Amino acid sequence: MSNRLNLLAPEVRANPYPYYAELRRSAPVCQVDPGGMWAVSRYDDVALVLKNAELFSSNTGRVTLLPPWIDRNPMVDSILLMDPPEHTKARAIVSRAFSTRVIPRVEPLLRATATAFVERLTPGREIDFCAELAVPIPATAIADLLGLDPALRAHFKRWTADFVAIAAATPEMREGIRATIADLERYLLEVIAARRAAPRDDLVSELLAARIDGVALTEPEIVSFLFLLLAAGFETTTHLLNTTMKILTEHPEVYARVRADPALIPALVEETLRFDPPAQIGMRQAKADVEIRGVKVPEGAFVAALISSANRDEQVFPDADRFDLDRERQVGLSFGYGPHFCLGAALARAEAKIGLEVLMSLPGRFEWAGREPEWNLGLLLRGPKECWVRYVV
Ligand code: HEM
Repeated sequence: MSNRLNLLAPEVRANPYPYYAELRRSAPVCQVDPGGMWAVSRYDDVALVLKNAELFSSNTGRVTLLPPWIDRNPMVDSILLMDPPEHTKARAIVSRAFSTRVIPRVEPLLRATATAFVERLTPGREIDFCAELAVPIPATAIADLLGLDPALRAHFKRWTADFVAIAAATPEMREGIRATIADLERYLLEVIAARRAAPRDDLVSELLAARIDGVALTEPEIVSFLFLLLAAGFETTTHLLNTTMKILTEHPEVYARVRADPALIPALVEETLRFDPPAQIGMRQAKADVEIRGVKVPEGAFVAALISSANRDEQVFPDADRFDLDRERQVGLSFGYGPHFCLGAALARAEAKIGLEVLMSLPGRFEWAGREPEWNLGLLLRGPKECWVRYVV
């Protein structure tokens, strides 16, 4: 038995922050479990690891995303796992297509989704906010980005759950996961063929049209990028919405202030992202022996940059454990830092803002229904699996 901190231990999943505080204090660069990977917990070190692609490679996912029982997973060829110079070129071209136009395009669909949620509300009845709104909002956005038939949205939760489960899949789950990858790839290739024949005003058509120095994306590159959007843009935003709801119900004074002044919604979103970020870790692999704060991290070591710990670093955020809408500096490392900074940050913020605008305009408010949340199982992302609340007027 090692006395290393296990990031997957239930008590750590339920509330990692006291453990991270201890790491920042007494072992800011150390090995943790599972697997004895290295962890950095102070803001400056997390930022350094995330931004320095010369020393820390992002190509870490092959072990977890392509175990021997899976013969294909387009996600492993996505920009998230690339290093420069390939990453620089590929990111430039997808960024061109994934422009600011994405948001105005999905906005009306998101408002319609939030309005449908409001129409289903019954005062006094317990509902799972996660299933009712925190999943439908990003599912609507991603389905639209991927160009998928709205009827397929029902499959999204299973698809993303299968993706997230690859690393920890039991033998019984394997067949289902292989089928999910094959189904999704088939759907996406159909969409790409349809848009090639008849372009529309949508992301897939723009990805097909995008050129840098006359070079276009190949079909497998587009499929990998769309796989990444599903993996990176769905569960993250669900966690953000759930966590915001949890914080509002735990801090009635914050809830009351934002209801009275919806102009505070962006501050609420930023502080929630800082306080309890959906992406807890950025994973890297040391390309050479590296010394951080006098500790040698050996070449080849996996390094967990603890984003959620950096966001609570007292050196950067005074009184960091306090949820504070009026914080002078709110932006932490929740969307990463450096070359891999989240491409969907503006979209995620817009999704949260639209959902919250609808909630704040309601005549009533939500109360926590008293059930302790169960936390999801992934290592990199953290959020409650369900979010039971009661609407009271
Ligand atoms: C609250 C919601 C979200 C959070 C907290 C989040 C967080 C992150 C983080 C931390 C990274 C960097 C990972 C690393 O450096 O290893 C990242 C990358 C990325 N995110 Fe997000 N994300 C969110 C929503 C979205 C959405 C909605 C999309 C798109 C639909 C998206 C697309 C991406 C992409 C494409 C990358 C890879 C960028 C690259 O490798 O160059 N994300 N995200």
